[in-house]
Amino acid sequence: MTKRNLIPLLIGCILMTTNCSSNKEADAGHSAGSREFGKTPAGETVELYTLRNAQGVEAAISTYGGVVVSLKVPDRTGAPGDIVLGFDDFKGYLLPPPYFGALIGRYGNRIAHAQFTLDGVAYKLAKNDGDNSLHGGTRGFDKVLWKAKPGNGQSLELTYLSKDGEEGYPGNLSVTVVYTLTDNNELKIDYTATTDKDTVLNLTNHSYFNLAGQGEGDVLGHQLTLNADRYTPVDKGLIPTGELRSVEGTPFDFRQPHAIGERIGSSDEQIKLGGGYDHCFILNRAGDGLSPAARVTEAKSGRVMEVLTTEPAIQFYTGNFLDGTLHGKGGKVYGRRSALCLETQHYPDSPNHPSFPTTELKPGAAYHTTTVYRFSTDGGKT
Ligand code: GLA
Repeated sequence: MTKRNLIPLLIGCILMTTNCSSNKEADAGHSAGSREFGKTPAGETVELYTLRNAQGVEAAISTYGGVVVSLKVPDRTGAPGDIVLGFDDFKGYLLPPPYFGALIGRYGNRIAHAQFTLDGVAYKLAKNDGDNSLHGGTRGFDKVLWKAKPGNGQSLELTYLSKDGEEGYPGNLSVTVVYTLTDNNELKIDYTATTDKDTVLNLTNHSYFNLAGQGEGDVLGHQLTLNADRYTPVDKGLIPTGELRSVEGTPFDFRQPHAIGERIGSSDEQIKLGGGYDHCFILNRAGDGLSPAARVTEAKSGRVMEVLTTEPAIQFYTGNFLDGTLHGKGGKVYGRRSALCLETQHYPDSPNHPSFPTTELKPGAAYHTTTVYRFSTDGGKT
């Protein structure tokens, strides 16, 4: 047998083995499966669940960090492609984090000087980003093991109990995140939580998207629309100054579609501070429900991603800290700006800015936010 014949055969065998060993949930719906993804340093088993919708869109989600490990959506010819950065091998997720695909908590984004005061009590957090706290601290929700309850093959419920004092935050916090892959080609994320003590909370997901396919160059040619008249300018530690600045006449004006790379090299002071875009945009919202936040298109693949959310803001980050040292799925090199993040959330550092919408959660109150990533193509087959 020639090498050429052998390779497809081997791939076939691998796929068959994966299917056979993974069909714990296969009977339940459009063939969601689970398999062991790896072991934590403490020896706990990490599972990888695969959700699949009726259109063949597929999302693989890890119980470690609730990470969206892969997300396969069709291009305009109908060919599926994995459009999120990540690792084939679980061990990749144990490296110092770029937070690929992960659930972020308790507080997505930064808290200045890693401290805040609530009900007159000062709480100290870990300084894991210069003088500040980033994405929940040293062991945020991206690094914990979530309990999984699969749904009908198209959804996965993840729960986590964050104990009072964990990472410095008050209250026993019970968190549930439900990922659903709808038949409209949407990845929907529902976040709910309750606490037994006053606390602060700002949950999000940190997927890195490249609509041309993960590892397929940079995202500077992607076109972006953001439904935001204002954004939060930052200081050199990327902490909001408190000002809500108009995007009018600045490189932050994405109210009409613009290529991400068009103004990223501008001499605008805020672009320089962020090393590109790494800013929170305040969404123009109508009412409390799901409201359109962002739209991204990529010309070659024809893929379109719309983001809808109940959250008041969205962090737009252009992967400025990626530097080509990380090798991801299929050995792809993840260079600077090889992906973009659109993290729906409250404003950064809200606990220290009484003028920002509150992120406080009280006992008896239910935290509930929803974000939808909706995929389509600009014509042709979806
Ligand atoms: C966020 C931040 C960025 C960076 C990334 C992770 O989105 O805003 O500054 O820290 O996470 O690398």
